[in-house]
Amino acid sequence: MASASSDQRRTPLPPVDYIKGVNGLDKIVLHEVRGSSAELYLYGGHVTSWKNDHGEELLFVSSKAQFKPPKAIRGGIPICFPQFSNLGTLEAHGFARNRVWSIDRDPPPPPNNKAFVDLILKPTEDDLKIWPHSFEFRLRVTLGPGGDLMLTSRVRNTDTKPFTFTFAYHTYLSVSDISEVRVEGLETLDYLDNLKNKERFTEQGDAITFEGELDKIYLSTPPKIAILDHERKRTFVLRKDGLPDAVVWNPWDKKAKSMADFGDEEYRHMLCVEAAAIEKPITLKPNEEWRGRQELSAVPSSYCSGQLDPQRVLLGT
Ligand code: BG6
Repeated sequence: MASASSDQRRTPLPPVDYIKGVNGLDKIVLHEVRGSSAELYLYGGHVTSWKNDHGEELLFVSSKAQFKPPKAIRGGIPICFPQFSNLGTLEAHGFARNRVWSIDRDPPPPPNNKAFVDLILKPTEDDLKIWPHSFEFRLRVTLGPGGDLMLTSRVRNTDTKPFTFTFAYHTYLSVSDISEVRVEGLETLDYLDNLKNKERFTEQGDAITFEGELDKIYLSTPPKIAILDHERKRTFVLRKDGLPDAVVWNPWDKKAKSMADFGDEEYRHMLCVEAAAIEKPITLKPNEEWRGRQELSAVPSSYCSGQLDPQRVLLGT
């Protein structure tokens, strides 16, 4: 009979590969023992792939994405920091998505039996000229045993003065056909409409469906949102912590045509649902730390469909 120590030796550790990706950019691949995987680039601290244990890609990356600094990669999960959109004076969505991150050599304690990697971003002299605040941004990307993809961000103020920022995990999900998709969990909430000068409205009671360009910031949402893809019979469940808001975006045909790094018809096969902190910017005093987490899982639709529909919950069906 094998001893406990030889059993331990035989337990395969979840492997992490450090390889070169498109254009020779540094890429990290996480493999989970049952076959799911995730890939991320040091450029942008940017997750570009998340596959289930059948090898099916769950994130959308444009066929026209340029893996070329300083342009952010179109698709996957860009990190919007220290600013979401063009709400401040910086470039749209901040600069974290087009800086080269490093592997964090001083990470927090590792999670048990999970494939993960820790990255860190600190501002350069040039960054301090455009955003004069010293910080340490630690990003942990973890692939759970069930193939769940978790992103945890910790931003620490290493400056001598307080600073304020907004944030989003700009998650591009791969969907079969946008007209077959609905989003549950945002009904009746207030939102800012990016297509109407960020005017505030209240969403109606039905799940969100798509028949044209949509660009909304839902405010103070529940921590769980479901994205149901009827054709693929797949439901994405997005859970978030420390991130009160959620952006939902699809550019539709006209805007798609205006983006050089996005195919004209690709809007049909993607949907952005982004855990975010936008309406109430986060302020950190010197030495304070903020933590924001997004967890994604993909499950067969029958498992989750309707669970978040308030009517069904009330009826107990
Ligand atoms: C979304 C915004 O998060 O990102 C949209 O709500 C924006 O307004 C979109 O158009 C894409 O932004 P970018 O900078 O990556 O082209």
